[in-house]
Amino acid sequence: MDWFVRDFDHPLYFEIYKDKEQEAFEEGPALVALLALPEDSFVLDLPCGWGRLLPALEHRGYRVVGGDLSPLNLQRHQAEFPGLVSRLDFRSLPFRDGCADGVFCAYTSWGYFASDEENLKQLQEFARVLRPAGVLLLDLSGRRVVEQNVAFVGHDWFLAEQGYIERVRWSHDGRRILTERKLKAERFRHDIWIPEDAEVRTFLCRAGFELDRAFGGLDGRPWEAGAERWIYRAIKR
Ligand SMILES: C[S@@+](CC[C@H](N)C(=O)[O-])C[C@H]1O[C@@H](n2cnc3c(N)ncnc32)[C@H](O)[C@@H]1O
Repeated sequence: MDWFVRDFDHPLYFEIYKDKEQEAFEEGPALVALLALPEDSFVLDLPCGWGRLLPALEHRGYRVVGGDLSPLNLQRHQAEFPGLVSRLDFRSLPFRDGCADGVFCAYTSWGYFASDEENLKQLQEFARVLRPAGVLLLDLSGRRVVEQNVAFVGHDWFLAEQGYIERVRWSHDGRRILTERKLKAERFRHDIWIPEDAEVRTFLCRAGFELDRAFGGLDGRPWEAGAERWIYRAIKR
């Protein structure tokens, strides 16, 4: 089974990422402002997770449909943030060509697949469902900061703030970050491609996007290599 099928669909995922509940109050409005579409735009929140960013999207006056692979996340979404949602896989979206004004891809939700072809396919699907000149907001972790953090924590198990133990390593080819966690006798293993900036730009271009702007933070500051977040606003050609 692919790691992302199981790890996000586990009740303990919500414990590990509890901080993200509070962070949504800052991230939501800031990312929605960077998406910068007119009121009443139709926006796909992909992936929507448990819907923590939906209030910010709705507050801006967008019509929103969320999509995610994890049934557990979608259940929580419906309980806490009722809205239209669909269970889906990024590689084959259940939406018509050109139906959306925006795709909102928040919080490092690209690079999960093992092959470049599949990661490209995710962006191609985003492009397919966007109308011409529709907007993708792709919010990624800055690779330099990830490199610094991994160098800082080393390769050994350590006790994370949230009370679980964690080990973080690079894959042998240096492209992917492998994060293992142990919590309450359960093991989790995230395996995410952390692209270079040039790779993000190349993949966006190959998928049919033109880069509009790249930001280096939630406040919309310009992109820089050392930024914690690399946030790309790209236009469907
Ligand atoms: C880091 S979370 C981000 C969720 C949301 N954007 C947020 O900011 O809260 C990643 C999400 O991607 C979903 N996901 C993972 N693989 C997926 C796939 N192949 N297709 C669709 N969703 C997927 C997970 O279930 C999880 O909810």
